[in-house]
Amino acid sequence: MIRSAICGIGSALPKKKMLNSELEGIVETSDAWIVQRTGIRQRYIAGEGETTVSLGTAAAKAALDNAGLTVADIDCIILATATPNHTFPASAVEIQNALGMSHGFAFDVQAVCSGFIFALTTADLYLKGGMAKRILVIGAETFSRILDWNDRSTCVLFGDGAGAVILEAIESANGDNSDRGILVCKQRSDGAFVDKLYVDGGPSTTQTTGHLRMEGREVFKHAVGMITDVVDDCFSATGISPSELDWFVPHQANKRIIDASAKKLGIADEKVVITVDQHGNTSAASVPLALAVAVNDGRIKKGDLVMLEAMGGGFTWGAILIRW
Ligand code: ACO
Repeated sequence: MIRSAICGIGSALPKKKMLNSELEGIVETSDAWIVQRTGIRQRYIAGEGETTVSLGTAAAKAALDNAGLTVADIDCIILATATPNHTFPASAVEIQNALGMSHGFAFDVQAVCSGFIFALTTADLYLKGGMAKRILVIGAETFSRILDWNDRSTCVLFGDGAGAVILEAIESANGDNSDRGILVCKQRSDGAFVDKLYVDGGPSTTQTTGHLRMEGREVFKHAVGMITDVVDDCFSATGISPSELDWFVPHQANKRIIDASAKKLGIADEKVVITVDQHGNTSAASVPLALAVAVNDGRIKKGDLVMLEAMGGGFTWGAILIRW
């Protein structure tokens, strides 16, 4: 039996850090409102020359270095993004080229904030199906480029960045939950919620890129239930209980959503990885960015049980349980 295990991780952030206080000069808001409602204190904003492809490439290089591998060892690149450099081709092939890789294949996955969960699930199935031995899975976004900087209800929430992992097919040692690698993936979507969170442009409609529109309160209302449903599905499928979990690495949209989800799931506060204060909501990049922080500071160690989850536009939502 094949298991998909993470053997390398990396991340990249734009050079410019933007504090909440800087937003006070752009829209009518305050550091106090943003911190109290979201937990966000700062985010990184892409500058000239920094794009989804450049950030994704930097994160991919860091993951390769971390794994001690080169692109020759990679068979496939899957990029989760809702902010590609171009309508087509996929930004994944631009990253493939920037990495100097001309073998294998690369493509994008579009599931907005759940993109990394969907991409990692796709990679897991490619590996288990024998289509590849090692896959570079990247979440990279430049949401600052689709924000309406006059809309205080959205522009204060998002940031730019990228995270990447290398997923490798390994032989399972025991065929049970003690094996390293992905133990279970669950993903969902429901297009009935399209108008709650969307971008008001596109090639086939307006021929413009458009701007992000969100009914924040409506998203909030559904988020906790959707997140806890898929996480509970992962617990049920494996027989693992919340108390056995070592780390909960949620999508970093809002600290209040994260806290409420952890509480409902019975996951202790000290097991929750929080980076929304540092990065804001970086959509598909948020889970791998948070993972990279917790791996690099030594919290997540080999053998730990780690639960990832995300929920976003669509709505889409999903969770993955990993033995690290
Ligand atoms: N600064 C100051 N006041 C503001 C701001 C701001 N930046 N934005 C809104 N307000 C005001 C509103 O106008 C409103 O004023 P009113 O009472 O006079 O009408 C008041 O603050 C409260 O607004 P709400 O929208 O009710 O505030 P809420 O507590 O719901 O917080 C927030 C808003 C932070 C957006 C929250 O609803 C949220 O986090 N929603 C979920 C977002 C999310 O999780 N997205 C995930 C997916 S993202 C993706 O997939 C791309």
